[in-house]
Amino acid sequence: MAKNNASVWTSIRFWRRSAAWVTGVAVVLLIFLTFDTMSQIRMGTDKELEQGIKRRIPAPTVINHHIDYKYDEKRGMEVPVIGKKEPFFGKEWSPKEARALLHLGKLTVQAKNCMDCHTLLGNGAYYAPDLTKAWLDPMWEKTMPAMTGKKTKEEAMAEFLMHPGQYRTHARAMPNLKITPKEAMGVVAFLKHMSSIDTNGFPRGFSKVIKEGKTGGTYAK
Ligand code: HEC
Repeated sequence: MAKNNASVWTSIRFWRRSAAWVTGVAVVLLIFLTFDTMSQIRMGTDKELEQGIKRRIPAPTVINHHIDYKYDEKRGMEVPVIGKKEPFFGKEWSPKEARALLHLGKLTVQAKNCMDCHTLLGNGAYYAPDLTKAWLDPMWEKTMPAMTGKKTKEEAMAEFLMHPGQYRTHARAMPNLKITPKEAMGVVAFLKHMSSIDTNGFPRGFSKVIKEGKTGGTYAK
């Protein structure tokens, strides 16, 4: 074999092989990560919810449950807690009904472009409060029912969405987007479901932000 004095760093063969290896390993890693992410973001089934099997994104029937949150010491962040069953707009929603209602809410949120002003799951604007955990804002339980003359949290929220100018809570006002009563129910279901999603603590420290009455950490007055 002829003696090659040149350093390995100048060998074209070495660089070609390295490139092939790096590409190969990256492809395998990306395939693994894709499947891992898919399983994390898959919506849970109604059965899993009934059996108390935790999923990051619970089934639509989670709207039949009380949603709360607690600080998880181990993870160092707030996580949603899915509690006991409670009526939502006065009834328990079947899996099919819950799915349809959530779908209507999602379409309404898209059609009315809530993201023009609000943030949902990290997407949108910071003109108005972050809506990712808006359902957990204690004002829907404490002040809004009396203010709107409604008995429940969900009815108060729906009433606010239909006539936001009448129940102002911030310096900026939300415009009337001509949301119908059915659409308002859908949007409330959509927001309640969203609050049950384990978002790895996003928006950061939301309990504190909510308690101080300014949902949306970067919401500027
Ligand atoms: C043009 C900007 C704009 C658009 C579009 C908009 N909002 Fe708002 N929204 C606001 C502002 C400003 C506030 C704060 C005013 C207030 O609370 O009185 C607000 C407040 C809210 C609140 C109360 C938040 C809290 O917890 O304090 C909810 C819920 C809400 N909006 C939902 C929606 C939904 C759902 C849509 C889409 C259907 C939407 N908004 C579209 C500007 C907007």
